[in-house]
Amino acid sequence: MSSPQTSSSPESASATESAPQQRRVEEKHAGAGKSESLSATDDSADSTEQTVHLKVFRYDPDVEAKEEPRYDDFHVPLERGMTVLDALIYARDHFDSSLTFRHSCRMGVCGSDGLFINGRQRLGCQTQISDLDSPVQVEPLPHEPVIKDLVVDMDHFFERMESIEPYFQPDELPDGELEEQRQSPENREKIKEASRCIQCGCCTSSCNHAQFDDEYIGPAAIVNGYRFYFDEREGDEPKNHRLDILSKEHGVWQCHTQFSCTEVCPKDIPITEEIQEMKREAMKRDVKFW
Ligand code: FES
Repeated sequence: MSSPQTSSSPESASATESAPQQRRVEEKHAGAGKSESLSATDDSADSTEQTVHLKVFRYDPDVEAKEEPRYDDFHVPLERGMTVLDALIYARDHFDSSLTFRHSCRMGVCGSDGLFINGRQRLGCQTQISDLDSPVQVEPLPHEPVIKDLVVDMDHFFERMESIEPYFQPDELPDGELEEQRQSPENREKIKEASRCIQCGCCTSSCNHAQFDDEYIGPAAIVNGYRFYFDEREGDEPKNHRLDILSKEHGVWQCHTQFSCTEVCPKDIPITEEIQEMKREAMKRDVKFW
């Protein structure tokens, strides 16, 4: 089945003036803990123990009783520093062992727990319950097919990632067998932000254009293309080839500078800005003036 369809966050409508990228990142951080501050607790359920009220999307095509999508309510004892992932793990371990979701590192590194939490793409392990309104609604990432409960099929996302050949392709290898291929500190700085991508899929899920154009390679793939394109160790030929891939019909030109990808990125990568930079690279190479 298709996951619940959404539009981008309503805050996105107001930013139209200068330095939009910087302002979006600042708004993102200012918003955390402000509009949704300290209200996810539900002390009506138990007067002696504070709990968090989770409303979790459930769907299982293999079980007749669960074929119809629904939301289940869980009241989880609140602990200091509890994240949405902690609360889901508690609900699974204590209330319903069939509750299904992905997670691994629990520290914002593996990117496997991208979820749609209170109407926004976020990492479960990086989202504090205390920053959210109650009830905390947890759904699978929008715009990807749901396999079961909170697990979506990421195959198409990873096909898009692979399409930009996300690996280092130098022209020449160093002479010595164990010699490093060095990079200057300045060049490392240039690709530092793009290198932070953990491929969680939050940005691509938030992009309305990626929803409508199935072939659009999407923000995550472009950011990874940027990371290798601007790496000074990349050879000239592969660099050109990579720019061909990124600037084809369903590449960077499809970005409508909607900024939703930048707003939801859990690693604060200036995604929209980097996509525009790739557009400029393609223009510089391909547009001829007579
Ligand atoms: Fe690895 Fe959240 S569990 S990023």
